[in-house]
Amino acid sequence: MATPAVRNTPKATDRTQERSVRESNIIAAKAVADAVRTSLGPRGMDKMIQSPSGEVVITNDGATILKKMQVSHPTAKMLVNLSASQDVEAGDGTTTVTVIAGAMLNAAELMLKKGIHPTVISESFLMASKKSVEILKGMSVPVDLADRDQLIKAASTSLNSKVISNNASLLAPLAVDALLSILQPNATNVDLKDIAVVKRLGGTIDDTELVKGLVFTQKATHAAGGPTKVVDAKIGLIQFCLSAPKTDIEQNIVVSDYSQMDRILKEERKYILDMCKTISKSGCNVLLIQKSILRDAVNELSLHFLAKMKILVVKDIEREDVEFICKTCGCVPIANVDTFHAEKLGKADLVQEQTTGEGKVIRIEGVPGAGKTCTLLCKASNKLVLDESERSLHDALCVLRCLVKQRFLTPGGGAPEMQLSYQLSKWANTLEGMQQYCVRAFAEAMEVVPYTLAENAGLDAIQVVTELRNRHANGETNCGINVRKGRVTNILEEHVLVPLLVHTSAISLATECVRLILKIDDIVITR
Ligand SMILES: Nc1ncnc2c1ncn2[C@@H]1O[C@H](COP(=O)(O)OP(=O)(O)OP(=O)(O)O)[C@@H](O)[C@H]1O
Ligand SMILES: [Mg+2]
Repeated sequence: MATPAVRNTPKATDRTQERSVRESNIIAAKAVADAVRTSLGPRGMDKMIQSPSGEVVITNDGATILKKMQVSHPTAKMLVNLSASQDVEAGDGTTTVTVIAGAMLNAAELMLKKGIHPTVISESFLMASKKSVEILKGMSVPVDLADRDQLIKAASTSLNSKVISNNASLLAPLAVDALLSILQPNATNVDLKDIAVVKRLGGTIDDTELVKGLVFTQKATHAAGGPTKVVDAKIGLIQFCLSAPKTDIEQNIVVSDYSQMDRILKEERKYILDMCKTISKSGCNVLLIQKSILRDAVNELSLHFLAKMKILVVKDIEREDVEFICKTCGCVPIANVDTFHAEKLGKADLVQEQTTGEGKVIRIEGVPGAGKTCTLLCKASNKLVLDESERSLHDALCVLRCLVKQRFLTPGGGAPEMQLSYQLSKWANTLEGMQQYCVRAFAEAMEVVPYTLAENAGLDAIQVVTELRNRHANGETNCGINVRKGRVTNILEEHVLVPLLVHTSAISLATECVRLILKIDDIVITR
């Protein structure tokens, strides 16, 4: 009798270890999901995050909260990555995806405890997620990109849950206009890099504006009294320096008498003057100079000459902005003064310096590339709000990008999740055995979204979710939680609209992440 017991022992320990690894993984991941739960929805709370260096961020954006949280457990990191992938894929719904993953893990944990094998759970969850995408597609309504009002409603929904929700009525149309202004006909995607978001302290969020052109946060370099406003501008973008050349190696020159000194100065003066003359001859009257780390991009002398030639100078242009500038103004970057020709210059109707709260900015307007790029100039009276306003605008733009990719809208307010829960439970009846059990658990896990929305809005979550469940069972597909009125109503009438892509990608990504966690049975640490 002793032999089988001995044979069984290592197997049993293996199992226990497997179970404990899985359990600890699930606990770590759930802790992360719980941390962001309270920030879901328009009445959700915001988080204040302080870094070791004392920097403070106030935000409602799930992806930002998780990124800044600096978790160390490997599985918890998977949840952080999950929300980051949702940010890349859809841009919005980063809190939702984490909350859903947490609920699915909870369901999986209970089933594991009942002795269901992780592979069965994993396979059933995959089936359920595929079915969910079908159901979501079924309840979505097509949207026409020419319908500006509809787009504004979608952008407003995403802005409503942010710190700056009071200004949603101003920011949503701005985001829509920005996107529409660069949207090519029949496009299936847009590059959000073509919309520059420039932040400036001073004024209020209401002063945020859309500029069909460029805004530089630096002021014009007019130490020598150069112009600060140029009408009918010819813009040159140079990548070389307007100062005396330097040799590659360190060297000293010993000057023994003043005539030699004079010669050196004269040479330098001539060298710089020649460069400035070439620039002026091409007709250029606005000069943008790329930032240089080797030596000064301009010196007093070159600034003096350029001022005399009535050329407006903006220095410290970042390398990564060059492409955007070229696309906007139609100029070509010039790497050498010998190739400074008129055909490489860009154009603009007006270039001028403007005073703002935090200092001056340069605005370039009336550009030939107005249909290709645009700039959103964000303003706010304090840095925390300004940063959050930029992040929220990014979310709104992402929502609009989702609509360009997939032109369908679904209702929000927990309606799609409740509908999923109802339809999946119904579908589960057609399945057999374990699968039926697992799919049903998946369906129940979906209720976490309406439950949390209600809880965060201070409503009686159980009562609201029960009412919602009943109404969905009665065929009221678009019923959702009306957070403002604190009741269950037809959420489409409230204009709470969320792109289909945000929902489908949240479900697919969350399922993928949960399946990955379930499949792990050991943690191996290497050195
Ligand atoms: N006016 C509203 N009434 C009811 N529900 C709403 C309303 N506006 C938004 N929602 C719901 O709130 C949820 C979105 O909340 P929130 O924007 O805080 O999180 P997220 O989009 O998942 O994450 P993030 O915006 O941080 O990336 C969605 O489920 C949406 O349906
Ligand atoms: Mg959102």
